[in-house]
Amino acid sequence: MAYPTSQEWYNSEELEGANVKFFLDTANLDELKKGADWGIVDGVTTNPTLIAKEGRPLEDQIRLICEIVDGDISAEVVSTEAGQMVREGRELARLHHNVVVKCPLTRDGIKATSTLSKDGIRVNVTLCFSAAQALLAAKAGAYIVSPFVGRLDDIGWTGMDLIKSIVNIYKIHGFKTQVLAASVRSPTHVVDAAAAGAHIATMPLKVLDMLFNHPLTDKGLDQFLKDWAKVFQEAPVAG
Ligand code: E4P
Repeated sequence: MAYPTSQEWYNSEELEGANVKFFLDTANLDELKKGADWGIVDGVTTNPTLIAKEGRPLEDQIRLICEIVDGDISAEVVSTEAGQMVREGRELARLHHNVVVKCPLTRDGIKATSTLSKDGIRVNVTLCFSAAQALLAAKAGAYIVSPFVGRLDDIGWTGMDLIKSIVNIYKIHGFKTQVLAASVRSPTHVVDAAAAGAHIATMPLKVLDMLFNHPLTDKGLDQFLKDWAKVFQEAPVAG
């Protein structure tokens, strides 16, 4: 039996829709470099809080981020009026071809999303907390919608139920908007978001790092290396 090469397998239909993307939810350049170095980071999400933490003007910080990660980089508008959001969004989109403009899920934000999307600018609609809001984002032509899982958990809801609900509704109606699980706080959130069919999970570096951990991996590797060393490194030198 001829097995497919990894490239053939990668291109096969079997994988269609089965490729959850991992984004880093940070504007910190050191964290981004560390995460990008693992070769598994597909993009970045930022928000005004994360940008403010770094202390550099938004445009400068986004340019630097674009040099580190080659993928969708979300940059959020800070205006609250639709016309201003559109102007700000156009400026942000001009910074780099990977920039995705982030607009909040308000009436003005949806109006701006609709205008920007019609112009061919990709928009991530953020601060989504209900399926009704996610429908508005999709109707406005959003490229991404960001339901906040952790913040819903914080108020005693089950954030992941929202991801499942949006993925299902989008599938029924053929919306192309990608569902990005945001406000992710743990590896369980990441796995559950992938199982629910989210297209993207964005997470802090700490959570991405935690995905690697398993005590049996450490134990197994330790034993492999000890067994190897017993024969190949501790054998008496001949002669
Ligand atoms: C996503 O784009 C948001 O920046 C982020 O996930 C918010 O996460 P938090 O609720 O941990 O602040």
